Order: sequence, then C-alpha cells, then structure tokens
Amino acid sequence: MERVLARTITHALVGLETRRVEVEAHLENGLPGFAIVGLADRACQEAKHRVRSGIASAELEWPLRRITVNLAPAALRKEGSAFDLPIALSILAASGQIPRDSLAKHAAVGELALDGRLRPVGGVLALAEAALEAGLPRILCAARSSPEAALAGIEPVPVRHLADAVAYLRGEHDPEPWVPANGRPVEPPMLDLADLRGQERARRALEIVAAGGHNLLLAGPPGTGKTMLARRLPSILPPLSPPEAIEVTRIYSVAGMLAADRPLVTTRPLRSPHYSASVAALVGGGPGPKPGEVSLAHRGVLVLDEFAEFQRPALEALRQPLEDGFVSIARVGGRAVFPARFQLVAAMNLCPCGARGDPAVDCKCSPQRLSAFRDKLSRALLDRFDLVVAMPRPRAAELAAPPGEASDPVRHRVATARKRLDVARAAWTKEATTLLDRAVERLPLSGRGRARARCVAETIAALASENAVAAEHLAEALAYRSPTELGAP
Ligand SMILES: Nc1ncnc2c1ncn2[C@@H]1O[C@H](COP(=O)(O)OP(=O)(O)OP(=O)(O)O)[C@@H](O)[C@H]1O
Ligand SMILES: [Mg+2]
Repeated sequence: MERVLARTITHALVGLETRRVEVEAHLENGLPGFAIVGLADRACQEAKHRVRSGIASAELEWPLRRITVNLAPAALRKEGSAFDLPIALSILAASGQIPRDSLAKHAAVGELALDGRLRPVGGVLALAEAALEAGLPRILCAARSSPEAALAGIEPVPVRHLADAVAYLRGEHDPEPWVPANGRPVEPPMLDLADLRGQERARRALEIVAAGGHNLLLAGPPGTGKTMLARRLPSILPPLSPPEAIEVTRIYSVAGMLAADRPLVTTRPLRSPHYSASVAALVGGGPGPKPGEVSLAHRGVLVLDEFAEFQRPALEALRQPLEDGFVSIARVGGRAVFPARFQLVAAMNLCPCGARGDPAVDCKCSPQRLSAFRDKLSRALLDRFDLVVAMPRPRAAELAAPPGEASDPVRHRVATARKRLDVARAAWTKEATTLLDRAVERLPLSGRGRARARCVAETIAALASENAVAAEHLAEALAYRSPTELGAP
C-alpha cells in the first residue's frame, strides 16, 4: 500500500450560494506529517489540530504517514470550520477505518471539538440543499443542525460525536431516526397597534406602507410614538409564505442566527440596528462574508431609529439595496450576493435638540447645527422614502383615550389590498393623470418621485377597494411626499 486516496463531498458557501468541494485525503509512505492544501483560510487550516485531536478522542487511529488533504477546486477560497468533519472522514476512509464507498452517498458538514464532538456550523440549510441537488440523499451533520438540514428535503444523519459517524458509516448502527417536529412552533407574540394612542395620520401611513410595501419616514419631537409605531409594522403584514420562510431561514442560517428550537423562521423579521452600526454591519461583509442587517430584514422590516444619527457612509450604502433588493459584496475571486428586499421605516427628530415640531417648546439649535443635521440626510436618500409623516406630540385627550384599533383588522385590510394589487394594475382617471403632471412641475417630483407617488396612489386606491386611481387617491399620496415635513426653516 504505497499511496491511498479517499474523498468526501461537501459544499462551500459563497454568500448564500454554494460550490461543490471535494475533500481528498492522500496517505503516502514517508515521514509522518499533515498538510491541508487548496486555498484554506486560517480557521480552515486550524482544522488540522481539531481533526487530529478529534480522531484520537474517538479512539481511532491517527495514520502515521504523510497525509495531504486537498480541498478542490483549489481556486475557491475555503473559509471556516465546516470542513472538519469531511476532512476527518476522508482521512479515516483513506486509512481503511471506514469503508471508502460508504462516503459516496453522504455529504458531510460540521466543526469538530477537540474531544471529538460535532458542533453545528452556519449555512447548513443552503449546504443541505446543494447536497441534495448534487444527488446525495443523506447529510452527516451536528444533531442540532438536523432540523435545519431536513428543511431542504434531505435525510439528515445527526452526529453527536465523530465516533457516532464512524459507527454509522461502518454499518454498526442505523442513524437516529429522524422525527420531524409536529406542527409549527408557537410564534412569539407581536407588538400590537392597539397600544398606540392617537396619531391617526401616522397609523394611516403605516397601513398604506404595509399594503404597498413602501418605505416610511417618521419625524417629530421625542416621545410621540415614532419608535412604537415603527416596531408595529410586522404585526399588520401578511404572514410569510412557505417559500419566503425558506428564503429568510437560509439567510439566518448563514448568519448563524437560527435558534435550535425554531429551525424555520416563520415570522416576518424586524431588525432595528443601533445608529452606531458600521457599513459592513448594515449591508454585510467581513469574513464569510456574513449578511448584514438589510438582508436579515429580507421580507420584513428594517427600522432605523434616530435615523439622522447614523453615519453618512452607512446611510449612503443603503441606497443600492433599497433600489435593487439585493446586496452584492465584492470578494477575492468573485462576489457574494445576498437578497435584501425589506421595507424601511426610519424615525428621527426634526432637529438635534429635538424640540422642533413641538409648538410648546423652543428649539435651541444654532443654524449651523441645523444645517449640518439636514446635510447629512442627502436628497438622494430622502427621495427613497415614499411616505414622510410628521408625528406631533399627542394631546392629553388622545393619550387618555381608549386604545386605538388593534393590528388584526388592519392586517386583514392590508391583505385584501395586497391581493387586489397582485391581480391587476389599477387604471388611472383623467383627473388623476392631470394632477400627477401638475405635481411633477410644481412640487417638483423627480422621475423616481413620480413613479413612487404613482405606486402609493395605486396602493391607496386598492385600500379603498377602487378599480381606478382617482385624483383624491393621488392627492393623499402626494401629501405624504413633501420634504417640507422635515422642516423648512
Ligand atoms: N401615541 C402614543 N400612544 C401611547 N403611548 C405613547 C405614545 N407616544 C408615546 N408613548 C409612550 O412613550 C414611550 C416612548 O415612545 P417612543 O419611544 O415611541 O417615542 P419616540 O417618538 O420614538 O421618541 P424619540 O424621538 O425620543 O425616540 C412609549 O413607550 C409609550 O409608552
Ligand atoms: Mg424613538
């Protein structure tokens, strides 16, 4: 036995996409040694220590030969620790400790602990989908990752310890039978609109935004319910469809953010990053790369509270995903693409001291501070908000009034309007068209502004169960589009 070779199939993640990777182990006679080749990053190189220690802990034999592990194709950069298990299995197969052909029908993924236990890694859903597509009916993965792998339709083989995987591949025991959980887990309760008193105009705007998938900017003095309202948008959105749920789950899986007891994300995500968030935290990047907040909010809501406090580069970075619905991150040797189709709700005060917009208090901001504050929000960015709403301080009577309308009836109206919008595009009455032309000249409206105002008017018509957009629908849409809400001095 001069030279032996064994191979395990796995996949590497590039963003949300996967590439097939063959993990080949060569054993040669010669001075004992262990090398991993094939553009492995640091975490991947460290697999050497984990695999060696894991094999010893499983009371298996470490082959005292020259071991070379090749991760092919060599041109693809391999990141992370998910290759530990396939590397260990290839070495064990090459040294005859498990039957070599047993690996042909199995994909493998997972990080080894020094004591041989298998740890879950991110992205198992996408990796399992890729394995199934590659014709592999089973995937060896950490027990905690099994529910997630099963979502792909592949049969997971839950592995707690490397010794389990070996016994299974030797045919010494069957895999733990995979029992899918019964029914959907109980959803965590959502915040309800009933908590919000008054603010009728803002409530109406939220309903329009929910029905049409628009972006909303809430502006006003502190403590008027801006944050409250923004966080309640998911409660009036229709639930995720099953394909959408898988899409969102794939993103959370790659981010390593899936809870073990809830392998499928079934509620629309609500993300509210702090204003100190970096560009990479917002749009994604870093090693991996990892999805950013815009992708974690995919099919859900991104709330940017204290909008004016965000760093300018972070805000500008939002422009592209807002327009395209995805983020493309340049990488060495390629690019990673993450979906980012989210609804943006931003909230801000009207000036740095916060008093502006409240008739009872005097604003103490200097003109310089005020203009610096406004400069930060570029026109290009403000243009992307379909609706801008000022939220004044609620009157005492409003705050003492009984609770407002709850989320449930609003959600039903939203769902009906969405159906109407899906079926057919609304026709436009002549009056509405004339009004739109006048608005383009007078307001003025940019090309995008015009298109957005049209969409909002169509949403308003759908909410009114009308087949044609009338002038009153457009007038309401235009009333929500004026940057004057942001306070011309
Ligand atoms: N319209 C309202 N109805 C009921 N409660 C309200 C309302 N407005 C404010 N509150 C109360 O005030 C608290 C603060 O509201 P919220 O955080 O939404 O204010 P905000 O407008 O975001 O203020 P800031 O500009 O300081 O962020 C809420 O938790 C709630 O208890
Ligand atoms: Mg707030």
